[in-house]
This record gives sequence, C-alpha cells and structure tokens, in this order.
Amino acid sequence: MQNFIYSIPTTVYFGRGQVSNLGSLASQFGDRVLLVYGGGSIKRTGVYDQVVSSLKESGIEIGELPGVEPNPKIGSVRAGAEICRRDSVDCIVAVGGGSAIDCAKGIAAASLYDGDAWDLVKNPKLITGALPLITVLTAAATGSEMDFYSVLSNPDTDEKISIDSPYLFPKYSIMDPDYTMTVPPRQTAAGTADILSHIFEAYFLKAGDTEIQDGIMESLMRTVIDNGRKVMADPKDYDARANLMWASSWAINGFIACGKSGAWVCHPMEHQLSAFYDIVHGEGLAAIIPHWLRYTLNDRTVDMVACYGERVLGIPDSDDRYSMAEQAIRKTEEWFFDDLKLPRTLRECGVPEDADLPLLAERAAASLGSAYVPLDADDVLAIYRAAFCEQEGDAL
Ligand code: NZQ
Ligand code: ZN
Repeated sequence: MQNFIYSIPTTVYFGRGQVSNLGSLASQFGDRVLLVYGGGSIKRTGVYDQVVSSLKESGIEIGELPGVEPNPKIGSVRAGAEICRRDSVDCIVAVGGGSAIDCAKGIAAASLYDGDAWDLVKNPKLITGALPLITVLTAAATGSEMDFYSVLSNPDTDEKISIDSPYLFPKYSIMDPDYTMTVPPRQTAAGTADILSHIFEAYFLKAGDTEIQDGIMESLMRTVIDNGRKVMADPKDYDARANLMWASSWAINGFIACGKSGAWVCHPMEHQLSAFYDIVHGEGLAAIIPHWLRYTLNDRTVDMVACYGERVLGIPDSDDRYSMAEQAIRKTEEWFFDDLKLPRTLRECGVPEDADLPLLAERAAASLGSAYVPLDADDVLAIYRAAFCEQEGDAL
C-alpha cells in the first residue's frame, strides 16, 4: 500500500427533511448567500421553496445565479464571481446535481481571485482560498458534494477540464434522497453509470495490497448495480435512492483510492467528447467502458477483471480467467444497456458522424496519466472507434 493522506472535511446531513438545517448552517458564515442552481428543476420540484424558506428563517439575504448548464461553462462561473464580489457574498449554496455544484465551486474560488476565472482552471495552484460552499444535492451521480473536484468547460476553446484543490471541498452537504425521486430516467441512468465508473477508475488502478479499499469498492459496486436496477423499475423507491446517493459520495470522496497509484482513464476520454459535443457525461462513459475493458485485457489485467466478475457479479470462479473476464464485461454491458437503457454507442450519445476522433484522441491521450495499461493516441482512437460503432463488441 502506498503512503497517503486522508481527510474529508465535508460534513454531511443525510436524509429526509435535512434541508431545515440549511439556514443555521449558512448563518455561521454571514448573512449573504448566493444561490446557484440549474435550468429550473428545483422550482418545479419544490426544492427551491424549501431552500429559500430555511435560509429566510435564519434571516439570510439571498442573491441568485440560475441557469447553470449541464457541463457547466466558465461564463456562469464568471457571472457568479461577479455577483459575489459586488454583493460581498459570505457563502455559496449550490442546489442541484454535479453541474450546479461544480459551477459553485468555480465561483467560490474565482470570487477570491483577481484575474480571470479560466486561469484557475488552467492552473489550479492559483487557487489560494474560496468562499464557503454548502450543497443541497438533487441528483446522485458525480460525488461533487463530497469531493474536491470541479469540472468546467470553455466553449471558446472546446476544453473541459477537471481541477482539484483542497479549497473546493464543500463545508456542508445536505443529501435528501427524496429530492432525487424526480430525476428523469435518462439522468438517473446516466448518473448511476457515472457512480459505477468512478469506482472502476479506482478499482482498476495499479494493484497494491489495498484489501480494505478493494473490499469496500466491491460492496459499493454491488450496491450501485443492484439499486440502479431498483430505481429504474421504481423511481420512488426511497431506500434504493438513498443507497445510490450515499454510494455516489463514497465512490469519489478519496477513500477508496487511498494507497493506490495510477491515473483515471475513462474520464479523460469522455471529457473530450462532452467538451466538443456537450454529450451527457454518464452516457459517454457507458459507451466507452466496455471497449476500454476489452482493449486493455491482457495477461496482466485479466485477473483484476475476472476478480470483479466473481466478487461483484457472481461469476463462478474458474481457471479460464479470460472467459471469466469476458463474461464480466458482457454482464456490465447488459447492466448499462438493458437494465439502465443507456445508449450503446457514442453515435447514439450524440457524437456526430463527422467527429474529429483523431484530434479528440490526441487531446485525451495528452491528459492521460500513468494508467494500469498506458494508452497513447492510437489506443484511444481505437477505443473511440469501437465505441462509436453500432454493433455490440465490434472488433477494434
Ligand atoms: O438543470 P436542472 O433544471 O436542475 O436539471 C438537471 C439537468 O438537466 C436535472 N436534474 C438534476 N436534479 C434533478 C433534475 N431533474 C429533476 N429532478 C431533480 N431532482 O438533471 C440534469 C443533469 O444535471 P447535472 O447536474 O448536469 O448532472 P450530473 O450530476 O450528472 O453532473 C454532470 C457534470 O458533473 C461533471 C460532469 O462532467 C458534468 O459536467 N462531473 C463532476 C465530477 C466532480 N465534480 O467530482 C466528477 C464526474 O466524473 C463528472 O465529470
Ligand atoms: Zn464521472
């Protein structure tokens, strides 16, 4: 096991009705809040009214930044930072999924920075502080509510970049599973695939005697797969929503990757696609992952995939590790495409016929660190092409 430092400074208020604590939590930081939210779902679902009422009960003055886009853009960060500076905002409250929260993280850092917000994305070391952030989560997916990442896009340069900084951890996150019951099936499926993908990124890092983390990851994966099926069948299943919500946080809050080394692979590949074509993050990942697993299957990796198959998917142990691994990949595909009903190909995700896949592959390869199977631009292109095709398991 490698050395590591472990700290998750976010305090979580989990469960029904926890939003009633919002006002008193926010008032610790002052009496002016900027509310950051997306395209209006929170108004339709009534979450907005509950948030505003709790803040008002604590005498808090509320400014608003509505309209944060999925795959949040740097323009929204700039607009939010401007409001924070102008109105001397004390605390930011993000209400929504990963996009609203990531945008709010960008705003929190940019409000305390004199230059342009995009500088911080290009060089996160410039982040030397941030306004306090509270999140009210409405969709289980990214884990942004309990991690230090923010993923921001710049449409002028077709870049989508994931940054991290210890200043970006939310101070508090309010997680009420009831709030996720209105997430439409397409977003529920994409979010659930995203959660599994975060665990994959950690599970398939270089091995290293991390028995506790590996065992927790296997339990998390079983939970996500099982409860993913349940919420697709019954979107109002409270316990299934609750298990997914908590899994979303634990998939990426740093714990499961403790003591492991190596870099994420599928996310850099997907981020190029959503940077250029604004596709849904979890959908792009589901289209890529099975092809990446097949492409990287070799004598060194086969045991890890077979082990995932046995411990998570219940595939019987056998000496034919390749057969076990192939069954594991097929079962994963069935879960993505039959149970969650996600689009099977990048084409169906919205990547156009004339997409410049070689350029995207080059850009993705440049951002790949040292993965458990290193990939260059040709490898990434082969995976993109396989994921683009219509036939399941098309030859690479
Ligand atoms: O915008 P509104 O109207 O709120 O609607 C949203 C949006 O259209 C809707 N929604 C959310 N909660 C809802 C709801 N609709 C009805 N009822 C509810 N309770 O769902 C749509 C998608 O929301 P969004 O926040 O965009 O989705 P998600 O949470 O999947 O976030 C995706 C973004 O996070 C980034 C992705 O790349 C993408 O930009 N990621 C962030 C990470 C992080 N910070 O750690 C890691 C991830 O790997 C990921 O890259
Ligand atoms: Zn993700």
